[in-house]
Amino acid sequence: NKVTFDYAKATTFIHDHEVESMKGIAEAAKEVLVSKSGAGNDFLGWIDLPVDYDKEEFARIQKAAAKIQSDSEVLVVIGIGGSYLGARAAIEFLRHNFYNMVSKEVRKTPEIYYAGNSISSTYLKHLIDVIGDRDFSVNIISKSGTTTEPAIAFRVFKEMLEKKYGKEEAAKRIYATTDKARGALKNLATEEGYESFVVPDDIGGRFSVLTAVGLLPIAVSGADIEKLMEGAAAGREMALNLPFEENDAMQYAAIRNILHRKGKAVEVLANYEPSLHYVSEWWKQLYGESEGKDNKGIFPAAVDLTTDLHSMGQFIQDGSRIMFETVMNVEESTEEIIINEEPVDLDGLNYLAGKNVDFVNKSAMNGTILAHTDGNVPNLLINIPAQNEFYLGELFYFFEFACGVSGYISGVNPFNQPGVESYKKNMFALLGKPGFEEEREKLLKRL
Ligand code: PA5
Repeated sequence: NKVTFDYAKATTFIHDHEVESMKGIAEAAKEVLVSKSGAGNDFLGWIDLPVDYDKEEFARIQKAAAKIQSDSEVLVVIGIGGSYLGARAAIEFLRHNFYNMVSKEVRKTPEIYYAGNSISSTYLKHLIDVIGDRDFSVNIISKSGTTTEPAIAFRVFKEMLEKKYGKEEAAKRIYATTDKARGALKNLATEEGYESFVVPDDIGGRFSVLTAVGLLPIAVSGADIEKLMEGAAAGREMALNLPFEENDAMQYAAIRNILHRKGKAVEVLANYEPSLHYVSEWWKQLYGESEGKDNKGIFPAAVDLTTDLHSMGQFIQDGSRIMFETVMNVEESTEEIIINEEPVDLDGLNYLAGKNVDFVNKSAMNGTILAHTDGNVPNLLINIPAQNEFYLGELFYFFEFACGVSGYISGVNPFNQPGVESYKKNMFALLGKPGFEEEREKLLKRL
């Protein structure tokens, strides 16, 4: 069993000669990627990461996770973008759907909340209310160490920790994941003696889930990070070595580009498990930041199904024909609920008696794939055998590798993100940050 890609339902939209021609383009793009000869080649540390990571730091992550599990009821994970989405995607994919709400006996590990992913004072205050007077720790994650959203949240929770435990004890509850040498957070961590973990220089935020950025919070949640790395290593082996015809990541990269060249400007990633919502959020960042530049790119959108069949389903079936859909199919659901027979069939559901709820879910999925295909939305399928650490590692690597190849197919640098700076400049000017005075005057006139 493994994570697989299947475009059999989309073959009416794609000709064999197109696949043949795109195969050559994809293989050339792969060569640029693995020979590290393309744009952004100083950010390719993720390619070998699953087999070439810092084992000493990995052991320190596990030790820190065990300490947090033993001395904290709550962990606050502070970070945004690539310093946030991977950990959340993994924890929600791997653990209980109601992780923070289920009893401690079931969960066994600290509640985990996220901060610094918005600038909402209400969100921060409400999170402070949730923590109450319980024991907690903080993992502040910022590669640059200067991002405004997490920096503000960190000030708030650092102050709260210092008031509660005193400066010295608080420092033992703060874990900083940042650059190995540079940035405000690194300086602060050194000054205050926080335990620190490294975001490697050659791994960008959206490719960093399998570094300490993702691994520490994931380990605190009780998930097995060794299995996660093993799965990623298996994904790497397949992506690097299998021929195109058997290479799922390469085929995904190729097929989405064929569809893009036929005018499909939007890719909708669909899931049928609520716990995959944040995998989609992680994927949106991975593909959106990697490909959306130079006035190019496939717009990555996502839906949670069947939920959104009752809202966005109308548009997908029948609206502007600008999209293709990629369905993440969890082949074996984690839990089973059987629909029981009722003596009087008032709700008309007795025809499903004895069936697993997941059978209904899969029938909805298969029916929807055919309906959307009939509505001229090509449907691609990513099969995930089960929701465990190994397959998630494979899935992360599958998406990352396909993203690198796909970016080079469309001729962009998949590893930079120049566009995310523009809002920051305006925000700093409006906030009155020193050095932005002239810009501030100009902007105030426009508001
Ligand atoms: O992919 C990226 O580079 C961004 O999404 C960053 O991860 C995000 O802006 C957070 O940056 P930092 O880790 O420097 O705080």
